[in-house]
Amino acid sequence: MSPKRPYPRQAYNFVSLAGVGMALFGLAAIVILFVLNSFSGHSNPYLGIFVFVLFPGVLVLGLLLIPAGMWMERRRMDKGQERPLFIDLGNAHHRNAMVTFAVGTSIFLLLTTLGLYGGYQYTESVQFCGEVCHTVMSPEFTAYSDSPHARVRCVECHIGPGAAWFVKSKISGTRQVFKTVLGTYPTPIPTPIENLRPAEEVCEECHWPEKFYGTVGKTLNSYLGDEENTHWQFNLLLKVGGTSDSPRGHATGIHWHVDEANRMTYVAVDSSRQSFRLVAWGEGENRVVYTRKGKPLPEEELTEAQADGRVRTLDCVDCHNRPSHIYKAPDVAVNEAMAKGLIDPAIPNVKVEAVQVLSAIYATSEGAQDSIALAFEEAYPDLDPGERARAIEGVQAVYARNMFPEMKVRWDRYPDNRGHWIYPGCFRCHGSDLQTPEGKGISDDCSLCHVILAQGPVGGPADTLVVAEGREFTGLTFHHPVDIGGEEFETHCYDCHLGDDSLY
Ligand code: HEC
Ligand code: HEC
Ligand code: HEC
Ligand code: HEC
Ligand code: HEC
Ligand code: HEC
Repeated sequence: MSPKRPYPRQAYNFVSLAGVGMALFGLAAIVILFVLNSFSGHSNPYLGIFVFVLFPGVLVLGLLLIPAGMWMERRRMDKGQERPLFIDLGNAHHRNAMVTFAVGTSIFLLLTTLGLYGGYQYTESVQFCGEVCHTVMSPEFTAYSDSPHARVRCVECHIGPGAAWFVKSKISGTRQVFKTVLGTYPTPIPTPIENLRPAEEVCEECHWPEKFYGTVGKTLNSYLGDEENTHWQFNLLLKVGGTSDSPRGHATGIHWHVDEANRMTYVAVDSSRQSFRLVAWGEGENRVVYTRKGKPLPEEELTEAQADGRVRTLDCVDCHNRPSHIYKAPDVAVNEAMAKGLIDPAIPNVKVEAVQVLSAIYATSEGAQDSIALAFEEAYPDLDPGERARAIEGVQAVYARNMFPEMKVRWDRYPDNRGHWIYPGCFRCHGSDLQTPEGKGISDDCSLCHVILAQGPVGGPADTLVVAEGREFTGLTFHHPVDIGGEEFETHCYDCHLGDDSLY
């Protein structure tokens, strides 16, 4: 009473059956993900890994298992080891079990796929990266939400597209989740990140250096530490320039550094990358090397630096190291809050009061907020209570946005390398003791990187810009807001300006 079977007898074995299951699962998963992704609105950079690598792998493996199982069964049959059929469709019990198994497994696989997809999407979300690990990521998340990149998801900078970085990041991510749960993470989180993905693969997804040219304007609103909080303004034109692919055809200005032909490399003194032993750029005969006072760097120091990852090719994040997590110094943040009207510049001495209370070190955020309120109540007993409350609110907001005592995060732990006022920034090289063997340094001419278009107290006499015919446009000579006897041209700004209340 042997039933009719559509396939040869040896096909009815466990291995081949498992192969059929896997192949069907792989196929179904690919189709489901494909459809889900088409409806999800925005494309997911890693979905491709599942759709094009992982599940097709499952599919192919399943297909290979089918003949493998048949071959094994055939051999067994040849050796005369006849067994009852693994599945006998003629047997009602087998048939029922088979249908139940097939339906159950299909539902299970479908739910697993959906679950995997959802879980995986969740680990990619800003919410997971920034909010779930609340205390740990709170500084980065808060600063990020108030940055020009607030709409760029964490993973777009921290992982980027491609399978290798995906795997790398998931491995390190799993380690980080454990550290968060166990509470063994460092405070503050160390910067710079040792193995951030090369910037050209991340930033250049959206920004093309060949598209930069010319200048961009920048206004610095500044308030002096006097009774009237004198408002002083600088209007600068930054020479952002571009690379040789730019419309100008040659690399100029600030983005000259990232031109392919210049390929600048450096040897950092330590992992903070805040000062350099050696800087070099150009190729072959045109290669220019700068070292401390022009003295050659001993070979063993170079080997040592290479061994602990202090040799690097300069890229976007060497200047733009805070594109998204920007922690402002009290001086800078209060200047901005006053210019925006969040702290009323009409309150006498408010610049100094605010910077002072923000410069102190507090154990907790709550303690800091209370101390700010208390300090202002003491400093302004006669001020209109509504006005005082608004000022307190303004200063508290500056604190909440920029200081995170629980994670020991403040401006002085996370330097911004873009300028030279509060941190060394550009002056890590320009105007430093780095020189060629012939004694040529790197220029710190005040009009190399920008021109000053206007400067002076707002509403008061401003310096006026006159460009004589035939003269190069170099802008105004810098006018320091208070007379410091020419020190502004002898000493670096950041040697005096620490961003806190030390100047008062
Ligand atoms: C525009 C790109 C960008 C985005 C978006 C971004 N980051 Fe970053 N992140 C960076 C860069 C650049 C650094 C510093 C790299 C360096 O100096 O080595 C950094 C550093 C960090 C650090 C190390 C501590 C520090 O501040 O240096 C953490 C933690 C971090 N980011 C988490 C996040 C989280 C969480 C999000 C999303 C809420 C996010 N990042 C979004 C670019 C970005
Ligand atoms: C997913 C796209 C995306 C990625 C990736 C990205 N950016 Fe941006 N970036 C933007 C957008 C959009 C803006 C414009 C925001 C605005 O004008 O408010 C911007 C603005 C900027 C600005 C001008 C900010 C300012 O102060 O006005 C700089 C500088 C910058 N990005 C640098 C970087 C660097 C460095 C990286 C890599 C670490 C990076 N970006 C990665 C999309 C991106
Ligand atoms: C030598 C330092 C340095 C390097 C390297 C550098 N930048 Fe910049 N970049 C600056 C400065 C300074 C500005 C002026 C505006 C500012 O302060 O944000 C700027 C401006 C920009 C802007 C805004 C331009 C505009 O027209 O508003 C973008 C976008 C940008 N950079 C992206 C990049 C990217 C992408 C890279 C890597 C390919 C890069 N930068 C490399 C220093 C640098
Ligand atoms: C790692 C060292 C290093 C850092 C950091 C650095 N520079 Fe430079 N920069 C150089 C060197 C070297 C030159 C070439 C100087 C020369 O030719 O004498 C240069 C040249 C320049 C030039 C002239 C480019 C041209 O048109 O030929 C500008 C503008 C400039 N830098 C701006 C900046 C700004 C702005 C920053 C900070 C945001 C900065 N640099 C940070 C090393 C550096
Ligand atoms: C190597 C390039 C470079 C040189 C040289 C340079 N600056 Fe700057 N400077 C910058 C950049 C970049 C910024 C903008 C920083 C930012 O975007 O916040 C800046 C900002 C400023 C500001 C505004 C303050 C601020 O940080 O917003 C003043 C004022 C200023 N520079 C004065 C000078 C004077 C005076 C000199 C000569 C002693 C000088 N700079 C030399 C690159 C340079
Ligand atoms: C020798 C120390 C010293 C040097 C160097 C110096 N400053 Fe100052 N700066 C001061 C003092 C002191 C004040 C007055 C503090 C106050 O009243 O706010 C001041 C005030 C200022 C202010 C207005 C107040 C504020 O903090 O917003 C600006 C802007 C400023 N300096 C910019 C610069 C720049 C840019 C450089 C470098 C080109 C520089 N300074 C170099 C000591 C210095």
